[in-house]
Amino acid sequence: MGKGKMKFVSGVVLLLVVYVGCIAGAFFLTAHVFTVTIESLSPVLIQIINSLLGLLGAILFFSLFQMKHMAQIKQALAAITAALEKISRGDFTTHLHLGFRVSEEVEALINNINKMALELNQMEKMRQEFISNVSHEIQSPLTSIRGFAQALHNDQLSSGDRLRFISIIETESIRLSQLSDSMLKLASLEAENSKITPVAYRLDKQIKNIILACEPQWTQKKIEMEGFLDQLEITADESLMSQVWINLIHNSIKFTPESGSIRVELHRQGENAVCRVSDTGIGMTEEDRLHIFERFYKADKARNRSQQGNGLGLSIVKKIIDMHQGNIHVESIVGAGTTFTVILPLC
Ligand SMILES: Nc1ncnc2c1ncn2[C@@H]1O[C@H](COP(=O)(O)OP(=O)(O)O)[C@@H](O)[C@H]1O
Ligand SMILES: [Mg+2]
Repeated sequence: MGKGKMKFVSGVVLLLVVYVGCIAGAFFLTAHVFTVTIESLSPVLIQIINSLLGLLGAILFFSLFQMKHMAQIKQALAAITAALEKISRGDFTTHLHLGFRVSEEVEALINNINKMALELNQMEKMRQEFISNVSHEIQSPLTSIRGFAQALHNDQLSSGDRLRFISIIETESIRLSQLSDSMLKLASLEAENSKITPVAYRLDKQIKNIILACEPQWTQKKIEMEGFLDQLEITADESLMSQVWINLIHNSIKFTPESGSIRVELHRQGENAVCRVSDTGIGMTEEDRLHIFERFYKADKARNRSQQGNGLGLSIVKKIIDMHQGNIHVESIVGAGTTFTVILPLC
């Protein structure tokens, strides 16, 4: 039996029980009153009086029941309105709990309001964290720029120091500009209408070109670069995918000390393309591994400061791979190296 049908049947049973109970009550009452007062009333009249009294009793019972029910609904609506007012004022810590039973519909409404408040609260926390991260990322280069620009006012500065300060100002300005580029990129990827433009192209050629474009960086660090790239055609957004490989390869160069090695492999596995970027770099802890795809996360902040990073690269990578229904995961051993594996459907 359906839930609605059960409710109806139990309502009818309750109605009957109350009605019969009231008639029985009326019967005992009138039997007592009539023996004391009027003795010669006809049984039919007594029956009618009993039935009417029973009906009156039942109506009274249900009216009281209804009044209590209406009072509870009023109380529930007042609590819901108060909670919604709190939410509209920006207080998302609200958790509604009435302490008495309400109808299923009202219960569902309350659950949804609690869920909405919880989600808004989480979003608010993320927003605050984002603002504090952005402010920090902007503040540190600005502090250096201001400091070194002030130092340049000194006439006694040697030409060597002057050049060094100018180059720091330049580097910090580049850092700021990269931060703004990355944030714009992430915002445009996260915009709801952001779409990918898939085209068929040779993935191995794309990765090879990026490895070659990074040659100045890896040769400068005397890093041995190896590429094992099977010929593979993929249907994906070419320009977005190139950002994935640039970010992963730049990271492996950045986090691999001099004379280390990097290996980039590409092969087909069933209906997927699998690309691995492995390095013999500094690696990362298990804890860091869990967070590196979060915005602004940097495993080693002190080291990163000298390494020109804002912690947005891997969030962008992850977002692009998600948009292609792909997958990325990382294996790493501290001090030994890191391997990023990207799995992408071929079409
Ligand atoms: N190949 C790697 N080896 C070791 N750590 C890495 C590697 N790639 C990424 N990481 C860690 O993940 C963090 C986040 O990377 P990313 O989002 O690209 O930010 P960024 O490069 O700007 O620091 C890095 O700061 C670093 O700690
Ligand atoms: Mg990076």
